[in-house]
Amino acid sequence: MMDWRSIAEFAEETARAAGQVLLDHLGKLKDIRGKSGINDLVTEADLASEDLITQRIQNRFPDHSIISEENSVILPDSHINWVVDPLDGTTNFVHQFPEFAVSIGVQYQNQTVAGVVFNPVFNQCFSASLDGGAYLNGSRVKVSDTSELATSLLLTGFPYKQDELWETNYELFKLFYRNSHGVRRLGAASLDLCYVAAGRFEGFWEFNLQSWDICAGEFILREAGGKTSDWGGGKLSPKGFRVLATNGKIHQQMIKVIDQPEFDIFRNSIG
Ligand code: IPD
Ligand code: CA
Ligand code: CA
Repeated sequence: MMDWRSIAEFAEETARAAGQVLLDHLGKLKDIRGKSGINDLVTEADLASEDLITQRIQNRFPDHSIISEENSVILPDSHINWVVDPLDGTTNFVHQFPEFAVSIGVQYQNQTVAGVVFNPVFNQCFSASLDGGAYLNGSRVKVSDTSELATSLLLTGFPYKQDELWETNYELFKLFYRNSHGVRRLGAASLDLCYVAAGRFEGFWEFNLQSWDICAGEFILREAGGKTSDWGGGKLSPKGFRVLATNGKIHQQMIKVIDQPEFDIFRNSIG
């Protein structure tokens, strides 16, 4: 068995180095491209950050797989997967809005055992290793004690694809807005999850995320005492189809809001 704490330390050093690469590109981008549409962007900063992360992992752990947003390296016999978003919050980055991060999760036999989410602008590094608690720059963080949805502050995000689910999600947005202190959309899911971990927010929901968006952040949140699940309360899909992430105390209250016939369309969707 590996020492997950030292793996988390290596992940943190790697995220910090990648964060410096992002800062080097901030405000100097030359190549901004749309992927699935005009709002789903990739830049030379995403790719440079990913190159650095991939090289560091391959040098240190040549037999580990890397599942990364732009280019993965899958080794079929590997028990360990690194799940990497080299730049989460690309749209913010392109517009020089300082809400973006490097997200690195580590999975052993498909269970997350370490995670790091690093915002280089504010030098904020959230980290966790299995059963070791969650930290922000070395200081322990915990979820908030708020136990009522009505007095909670929530986070969400929206997928790039604009289909019927996307439309219906705005109805859910209205309901959560009406039944809480408010909802924020900040633009980097990995950081959203860490903010719930640190007790700044009570809950987060989003659908059609990807494994690299949530792997590190949802693990950090659980290590901070929070809860993650599918929107119905079942096991969270590692692919991030329907993510519900809370301080634990308002989890059932959020599920109750979603559990209405008009939102069956989500339950019946893929995943
Ligand atoms: C996106 C961000 C955003 C979320 C999107 C993600 P990217 O990741 O996490 O907050 O709402 O669904 O795709 O494209 O900036 O890496
Ligand atoms: Ca992302
Ligand atoms: Ca990304």
